[in-house]
Order: sequence, then C-alpha cells, then structure tokens
Amino acid sequence: MIKSLDRKIILTGISHGKCKKKREAVRMRKIEKWISDEELESIYSSSYWNNVEEEKKKGWWIADGNFKKCLELLKQSRLLEAYKKSEKFLLSFPAKSIIVVDLAAGIGWTTALLSKLPGVMEVRAVEISKHRLESLFEHSIKMLSGEGNKIFRYLGSFYDLKFENNSVDVIYMSQAFHHAAQPLKLLSECDRVLKANGIIILIGEQYFGIKTIFKKILSNLFRKGKLTINFYKMFPPDPILGDHYYRCRDYYSMFGTMGYSVKREYVGNEKVIYVAGKTGR
Ligand SMILES: C[S@@+](CC[C@H](N)C(=O)[O-])C[C@H]1O[C@@H](n2cnc3c(N)ncnc32)[C@H](O)[C@@H]1O
Repeated sequence: MIKSLDRKIILTGISHGKCKKKREAVRMRKIEKWISDEELESIYSSSYWNNVEEEKKKGWWIADGNFKKCLELLKQSRLLEAYKKSEKFLLSFPAKSIIVVDLAAGIGWTTALLSKLPGVMEVRAVEISKHRLESLFEHSIKMLSGEGNKIFRYLGSFYDLKFENNSVDVIYMSQAFHHAAQPLKLLSECDRVLKANGIIILIGEQYFGIKTIFKKILSNLFRKGKLTINFYKMFPPDPILGDHYYRCRDYYSMFGTMGYSVKREYVGNEKVIYVAGKTGR
C-alpha cells in the first residue's frame, strides 16, 4: 500500500540534446521504487526493456529532444488516433476526480495526454523500464504538454500494484496488455485495485483479420512446408519482447471470466480498443 507516497514536487531541468540549451523545467514528483534491482532483473522481458542501447534505435528515444520522429511514429502507427478514440470513455466517466493507472506506461506519452483531461485528478504510471521512467518520461511530458503535477511514477511490475483495494477509477494500458505472460493474473490484480464502477481500457491490441490469418497459413505452408491452422502455433509469443497474441474471442473470454462487460472498437491498421467495465458483476 502507498504509505510513503512522495507528494513533493521536484523541478527537473532537461538538457536540449546536442546544442546543450536548457529546456524549460518539467515539474515532476520523485519516482517511487516498489522493487529492488535484483527483483527487477528477474521480471519477464525486463532485460529487453532495460537495454538502453536497444532503445536508442527506436523512435521512442526522445532523450535528445527530437520529438518529431516520436510524434511521427505515434501518428503512423495510429496509436494517437486510438488514444483519441479512447478519450471519450474517460470524458464520459461518471466520477469527477478520476484516478487513472497507466500500466506499462513506457515513455509516458499516454500518461502525459491523460493528465491533460479535465476530470482526471491523478495519473499513476507503472513501469519496469528504468530509463523510460527516469529519463524519457520527462521528455514526453514536455513533448505533449502534460500536467506534471498530476503524475506519479512507480518502478514496479503490473502484477503487483502497491495500491489499496478499490481505490482506482480507470486502468489504462497502451500496447501493454499483450505483454503479460499471465494475463489473468494481471486482470485479477487490476480487479483488486479498481473501484466497483471502474473500467479497464486497452489500446494498441492487435486484431487478426481473416486476411492476416490466411497469409500466415500460406507463408507457413510455402516457406516452412508446414500446414498449421492452430492460432497459437501460427502466432507464438515473442520470448524477448514478451509479446503475446490473442484473438478477439480470447479478450472477451478473459474479461468474461472476470465478470466484466466488454466493448470493442476497431481503429484501423489491425489495431483495436477494448473497454471493459466492472459494473453489473
Ligand atoms: C510496447 S511497450 C508499450 C509502452 C507504452 N504503453 C506505449 O504505448 O508506448 C510495452 C511496455 O511494457 C512494459 N512492461 C513489460 N512488462 C511489464 C511488467 N511486468 N510491469 C510493468 N511494465 C511492463 C515494458 O517495459 C514496455 O515499456
């Protein structure tokens, strides 16, 4: 439970890449560390997400203050569009002072955008990637003009949230849910911290249309000489990045197991949004 939540705001200066010009300071709270370095190392896929050299190759690397490539990436991948579509569920949320938990928040671009919503009082970002949380996060807040005073950062795993039972209104996951090797364990932890009328929003989850599945069957047949129609054999988990692949019916079934009602919205680019509600259980 959060006993010693550090609510003191610190001012953090950010250097402006090569030209060494000082950017405006971003007001951020200190990161709360839920786990030790040893525990962090033992978490599934953590070595990949804590590999700074690997991260520097990605469009998410904005430590140099080059926001253009990241903004382009958000646009091209249609993640920004997915986020925008998901906003209506937060804007119509009945509570006035919403507490959102952004799980596996990455560099914090969703955290930044969520913090700007008028009804949102707090956004709590949970991550296992140290440099994303410690360094890239501040740049995201700057890039998207987030409200640093509403943001809390936690270094820890989404399976073990140090929040009180029934204390959170919304759990947000962008390209995150499919990184859980134990999705039901994750949902059960979300359920524990969610209030009775809480919702879980997933964006950036993959949609497997008939065309994609058919293409995969053909490529397996002609390249590997194997005829496979088993979905999980066609799309096995990525052991390094920790990606897992689910069909729509799997999402419905997992949420159904928890007693949640589910809505789905197609975004395009084979990506979907799922919104699951605890109400009515
Ligand atoms: C594809 S990235 C998505 C990041 C961000 N939400 C976004 O949309 O850009 C997946 C993230 O999941 C994080 N992650 C993986 N396993 C985790 C765990 N057990 N607990 C918390 N974060 C985790 C990784 O560090 C990584 O930042």
